[in-house]
Amino acid sequence: MIIKWPGGKKWLPIKYNALLPNKYNTYLEPFMGSGAMYFGLEPRKALLSDINPRLINLFSQLRDNPEYLYDKTNELISTHSEKQYYEIRDKFNTLEPSAANFLYLNRTCFNGVYRENKKGEFNVPVGKRNSSFFPFNFEEFKVFSDALQNAELSCEDCFSALEKASEGDFIYIDPPYLKNEDNYESFRKYGKDIFNRKKLEELASTLNELSSKCKILISNFDLEDVKILFDSNWNLKSVEQMSYISGSGKGRKAMQEVLIYNY
Ligand SMILES: C[S@@+](CC[C@H](N)C(=O)[O-])C[C@H]1O[C@@H](n2cnc3c(N)ncnc32)[C@H](O)[C@@H]1O
Repeated sequence: MIIKWPGGKKWLPIKYNALLPNKYNTYLEPFMGSGAMYFGLEPRKALLSDINPRLINLFSQLRDNPEYLYDKTNELISTHSEKQYYEIRDKFNTLEPSAANFLYLNRTCFNGVYRENKKGEFNVPVGKRNSSFFPFNFEEFKVFSDALQNAELSCEDCFSALEKASEGDFIYIDPPYLKNEDNYESFRKYGKDIFNRKKLEELASTLNELSSKCKILISNFDLEDVKILFDSNWNLKSVEQMSYISGSGKGRKAMQEVLIYNY
């Protein structure tokens, strides 16, 4: 993927390709993140959105100005140092939230984590590894730009994005996961606003309504508390996935996830 993103689903279209529908009109992904599912699926027509404006700006620039973005990012990567990282991070949070600054920070920060403080500032420290930060030549980079030509991108809340769903569309839903059944805060805080249990309930109710006209696939932690929101009209498939637990010091860990789908 062009960006590293916590909870990225690169594995989903590869390992569970057979579970994905192959006939639908428009593909909707209202929790886009790195867009791993979109890039794996390559649908003919798509509406991609996320609540993070910096992320959507990055993908818009990637779609519309790939050469400029590639050159600018490479320039920054070639002069990377801890000092430069913190200078660009300050710029990114104040004057210049540009796509190249975002991509540079994303590729050089600690474990590709995205986290904001209460003021909405990106506050991830510099990464320590010194392997190749940006392992793409222009042709490889351009493949992602080309794939985005079929997509409409927008920065918006999932609920307004879902209002655009029409009969025969396919919707992939990958919200921030709940932490566990006793703690309704989200497991990973992508931005200053937390996607909590109440929001997940509202989302489930919207999806139950949309279920009569769209094909829908949802991924989340395999928790009773999540599954209870979907009745017997939905199919459930438990899957085990290796995931990096940031900040735990434990590295990668097998996580029980669930795929919930209505087709
Ligand atoms: C689990 S990640 C999605 C990961 C993505 N599937 C991938 O492969 O990279 C959840 C995403 O939801 C976004 N998000 C959080 N709250 C949201 C909301 N209310 N509406 C839309 N997007 C939201 C976050 O910015 C984050 O990118």
